[in-house]
Amino acid sequence: MLHRSLAPFALALLSLLPACEETGLMRFDGGTTPPGEDGGEPAQRQISYTPEGCGYTVTSPELESAAMGTDVQDPDNPVLHHVHASWAGPTDSTFAVNWETGLRTLASRILYGTDRAAVEAAEAPGGDVLGRNGHTMFYRAMIGGGPGTRLHEVHVCGLEPETTYYYKVGGPGRWSRVYEIATAPPVGSTQPFSFGVTGDSRNNLENSWPISQRRLDEAGVDFQVFSGDAVFLGANQADWRQFFEASVDDFDVTDFLARAPFMMANGNHDQLALNYVAQFAFPQEVSEGERAQGMEWYSFDYGNAHFVILNDTVNDSAVLAGGQARWLREDLARVDRTRQPWIFVSHHRPFYTCRSTHSPDTALRAAWQPIFDEFSVDFVLTGHNHVYERSTPIRGLEGGEGVVAATGTNGVPTYDMAGLPSGTVYVVAAGVGAELYEVSSECTTSFTSMSVRPYVIFEVEGRTLTYTAYDAMSGGMLDQFTLTK
Ligand SMILES: [Fe+2]
Repeated sequence: MLHRSLAPFALALLSLLPACEETGLMRFDGGTTPPGEDGGEPAQRQISYTPEGCGYTVTSPELESAAMGTDVQDPDNPVLHHVHASWAGPTDSTFAVNWETGLRTLASRILYGTDRAAVEAAEAPGGDVLGRNGHTMFYRAMIGGGPGTRLHEVHVCGLEPETTYYYKVGGPGRWSRVYEIATAPPVGSTQPFSFGVTGDSRNNLENSWPISQRRLDEAGVDFQVFSGDAVFLGANQADWRQFFEASVDDFDVTDFLARAPFMMANGNHDQLALNYVAQFAFPQEVSEGERAQGMEWYSFDYGNAHFVILNDTVNDSAVLAGGQARWLREDLARVDRTRQPWIFVSHHRPFYTCRSTHSPDTALRAAWQPIFDEFSVDFVLTGHNHVYERSTPIRGLEGGEGVVAATGTNGVPTYDMAGLPSGTVYVVAAGVGAELYEVSSECTTSFTSMSVRPYVIFEVEGRTLTYTAYDAMSGGMLDQFTLTK
């Protein structure tokens, strides 16, 4: 455990941290000081439990187990904020919610149902309103957390697919407002859906982070894939508060984050810090070499698409081509492409990017591209360079460089007779908050590039996909194509 006396070290680290450089990692099990009864250093604790009705286990890095099922509210601090949703289980039958309260609040409950008015009126489960208990945890961030952070997390399972639910979190006498969230179509369904892609929100320059979220909300996307670097310093709770409390006009980012599940990759600034691990609920299947309770890398299905979130900012670089690559190959091998023709991968550091601040990560390319090629991954979504870039379709490596694959109209992959894509499109779409970088299109693998604050929307309808990139600041379209396989 790190002592609070290490706070000066952390502040020194903060002051030395250049823009998006290597920060080193403060691991989830080494970045905080949990409260000790005697004021000393308690041992790191964690707890695992199966939420009611769920087919998966939740492991929390630190938890006050006595808090489960209580209605205790902090009498002095009625705050309940940062409500945001994600998935830790099947997207067609579950969702998870995290939020923050005053330090002494232990109530960690959710009420939900398909009747908004009934959920609005309820103080307890009954009738058409169901309830679940979650868990709570307290930690002192190494920096920026004030007297500490009280978090809550609840998992809801056993839901119907393609159904809109209404929910509120908190406990008797103190509930959040009512939010809505929709479950996914069943795996393999050809029902249309859409999702947004952003990354590198960290400094919220030009207020572009909430602006991007409002645009995605207005577009009605079903969920969001975020390629990392949510905050400037992952161990700094003040940075996370800025992230969750950002707003523009009467729109709060949580208006969107509480409705549309947020699925994130760890960036070098997020540091795989306890703050990151504690504040999100993602699938938790621990594989070889993985830390952070299985949240370093994970996958999920949504309709007829499969999504893989990788971690390229690891403690031990050997895991990139080792355990993580083995997990990636096994995960992709399980995908039935007749039912799920689309595969999207997201991670933070691009390995195709053209003359921007960060060079292509060639070690990452050598470790992962052969697997992306083997399983015909359609899109790889990254950030780290705060720009918009789309590659030409790429398949194969020659001399460490990608081989530009056959392209159709507007640089779109063509497909062979078996219906498999002839090339992976590598996208860098990040900078809804971080400082913009320069970028070039003068690389053989580049199709287009721009120094803008981008977000991307994918609209999937069966075997047809429409890709549109936008400038978050103007709302203008930057790039669009449709492909069918
Ligand atoms: Fe980065």
